[in-house]
Amino acid sequence: MAKIYATCRVFADEIARLRGAGHDVQMRGQEGPISRDELIRSISDADAMICLLSDKIDAKVIATGPRLRIIANLGVGYDNIDVPAAHAAGIIVTNTPGALTETTADLTFALLLAAARRILEADEYVRSGKFLGWELLQKHLGLDVFGKTLGIVGMGRIGTAVARRGHFGFGMKGLYHNRHRNIDAERELGARYVTFEELLEESDFVCVHTPLTEETHHLFNKDSFRKMKKSAILVNVARGPVVDEVALVWALETGEIAGAGIDVYEREPQVHPGLLKLKERVVLAPHIGSASVETRRKMAKIAVDNVLSVLSGGEPLNPVT
Ligand code: DGY
Repeated sequence: MAKIYATCRVFADEIARLRGAGHDVQMRGQEGPISRDELIRSISDADAMICLLSDKIDAKVIATGPRLRIIANLGVGYDNIDVPAAHAAGIIVTNTPGALTETTADLTFALLLAAARRILEADEYVRSGKFLGWELLQKHLGLDVFGKTLGIVGMGRIGTAVARRGHFGFGMKGLYHNRHRNIDAERELGARYVTFEELLEESDFVCVHTPLTEETHHLFNKDSFRKMKKSAILVNVARGPVVDEVALVWALETGEIAGAGIDVYEREPQVHPGLLKLKERVVLAPHIGSASVETRRKMAKIAVDNVLSVLSGGEPLNPVT
């Protein structure tokens, strides 16, 4: 019987599958990030771990789990795990690619539309009884989305799904910047490959879908915001540290850009107090890119499938290489 530790609550039917295979499953029941001490204590005799983005699994943590055979991350990104250290210790790391592509693209558009059309401010206005009737110069004049230029930074699976929504749903002109050209997206969506600077200068909406790496850390800083249109809106559903949050607050406060839709934060779950104060064309979400019932179920299933496969001596289905 193997011991499996999950750092967060997991759907009961998935836990039942693990137990049904004869494994002992311990699951952390509390909300909020696990402390380093608790994490180290909990994996000391575990054969498998199911974890999430807020669990910082560095080389020292890995060394405290001598029996670990698999770390199954609930997410497509795995920048929370020191993958080379895990591999060096003979531990397999898996993720959940594909499962959350469309759901995250939906959220990207939800934030884009909400910021552009000032939906949250309008909602608050109605609820507080201030709505006195239609006016030409209504208080919540927003920005058009249809027909505008959509700039995608990181044209992988999610970036392409966002570009598809922009192209087919909103008649948008698509620009993208990526490490490599995405010829399929160019053919299917007419998206144009441009330099990062060109993308900043020409886009009305800039959507961030790049992974967090040394190169993308603070890719959006004061210089980048200065290059964007003053009417532009930034949407980040990728990783908080890709955007320098101090610079973002500065850009919004000084009118360097017009608005933002933000789902991820530099020091998650902390949010820069300056961002919390800004309400005009600024929409904040608590890292819910993949948060639909269907998708979270799919992600849990993938993680459990990987654990079951590895613990029974099989290959991982979604190895991070
Ligand atoms: C992902 O899948 O990368 C999400 O951001 C959760 O970690």
